[in-house]
Amino acid sequence: MEQADLIWMNGELIPWEDAKVHVLTHGLHYGTGVFEGIRAYDTELGTAVFRHTEHLDRLMRSAQLYYMPVPYSVEELRAATHELIARNELASCYIRPLVFRGYGQMGLFPLDAPVDVAIAAWSWGAYLGDEGKSKGIRAKVSSWRRIGPDSMIPHAKASGQYLNSVLAKIESQKAGYEEAILLDDLGHVCEGSGENIFVVRDGVVHTPPQTASILDGISRRSVIEIARDEGLEVVERDLARAELYLADEVFLSGTAAELVPVREIDDHAIGEGIPGPVTRRVQAVFEDALYGRAERYRSWLDVVPVPSRTA
Ligand SMILES: Cc1ncc(COP(=O)(O)O)c(C=O)c1O
Repeated sequence: MEQADLIWMNGELIPWEDAKVHVLTHGLHYGTGVFEGIRAYDTELGTAVFRHTEHLDRLMRSAQLYYMPVPYSVEELRAATHELIARNELASCYIRPLVFRGYGQMGLFPLDAPVDVAIAAWSWGAYLGDEGKSKGIRAKVSSWRRIGPDSMIPHAKASGQYLNSVLAKIESQKAGYEEAILLDDLGHVCEGSGENIFVVRDGVVHTPPQTASILDGISRRSVIEIARDEGLEVVERDLARAELYLADEVFLSGTAAELVPVREIDDHAIGEGIPGPVTRRVQAVFEDALYGRAERYRSWLDVVPVPSRTA
């Protein structure tokens, strides 16, 4: 991991190595935290955060779902992130805001524990690799089912919930695959361990609906909008496992991974076993949007203000 100089913690910019917590921090024991994964890109407009407010809104809603009052507004967190990126002199970066129950209270009732907030930013390349983005990855349907809405809150991006993704990720990597695809409780296709999934059949783009225990991905929303703008039909519906194998194309979307073609699932080649034309087309426009090259999606970019230089 590439370190940066500063981390924002509870309202202050502090040195990276000083951003520490007590070992009895509530969130460390019980997973009582919520977080976001955001990216900023080096665009011709300057460093720009992709769909910044949407990510911070989701952070706020995740916190609310776990009864965590966030002591900062979206606007304050947005300004703090701008300052963090500028002070770290990062032209592009991954941004990780974290809201967690802090030190001072143990036991499962968390509401008396303090709520701490941190934001880190660092340089981080494509999560599933540049080669994965260009040639496609191999994925495995996990034996672990995605957490269901009857025991947790799939719509929340909550720390403790990620044990589910961690199990699936370890299983897939130990078996020699790059990513896991999780099914929901009913056996329908849900998502990757950290990405939403799209299946192309006969020119139509399909993706599991909000009711399939997915995280309501911001890249997913962007991909749906782009695909429709490109004249493609996008259908949100339950998908059977076999439809993965029978697909012409499959791709994943997520902030860390960006848009990644899947070339093989459970040792079945998807289509020709190489990224297909629909994936390529949507991926190209998505990349243009991320890097500020697509006029139509400029409003998705939050340009980091350049700090005024004092003499
Ligand atoms: C479980 C899960 N699904 C989907 C996504 C994709 O969401 P987004 O596009 O908002 O990054 C992520 C990444 O945050 C994730 O962790």
